Amino acid sequence: MILLQLTGLSGAGKTTIANYVKEHLQHLGHKIELLDGDIIRKNLSKDLGFSKNDRCENIRRMGFIADILTRNNIIVLIAAINPYEDIRQELRQNYGAKTVWIKCNLETLKQRDTKGLYKRAFLPENHPEKIYNLTGVNDIYEIPLNADLVIETTTESIAQSAQKVINFVVENLQDLH
Ligand code: ADX
Repeated sequence: MILLQLTGLSGAGKTTIANYVKEHLQHLGHKIELLDGDIIRKNLSKDLGFSKNDRCENIRRMGFIADILTRNNIIVLIAAINPYEDIRQELRQNYGAKTVWIKCNLETLKQRDTKGLYKRAFLPENHPEKIYNLTGVNDIYEIPLNADLVIETTTESIAQSAQKVINFVVENLQDLH
């Protein structure tokens, strides 16, 4: 069964696309679950911050759960920043995860800034609200080296992007049969 890791910067559209894909595939009768970074961090990964170790541990936990679900014939979408190539490769090797890079340029993300995180990351040094480890601004995002699918949300609509992911899932399901 299929496991997709949707990776990309905060605000790129991972959660929105994943929810759209989930609803659509459920409608077609598929069993599908979404493991979303924000939700996992409020529950299973409450103890973790944003250091490299903590981000990797967060993704490992999601991979572990995803594997249990896919073994039970459930399609799984992981929607998390997932910024490190080695952990993405680990999920690929251990669980057969496919990588979907949800790509968006920083200018667009700064304009969208739905959570106000980019504004805070660009505050002057020592400002009390400044954040120092926002992925893509002052923390690393390693470009996926062999993404199975690249989605450009800078220019595409949510529906266009989601449809590409849906097509990818359906094609891969057919390959499994
Ligand atoms: S990951 O790096 O471990 O994969 P994850 O996707 O679970 O990250 O969580 C990212 C979410 O945490 C963001 O969407 C945002 O809401 C919140 N967040 C808070 N601080 C940061 C930060 N410094 N860098 C990235 N995300 C942050």
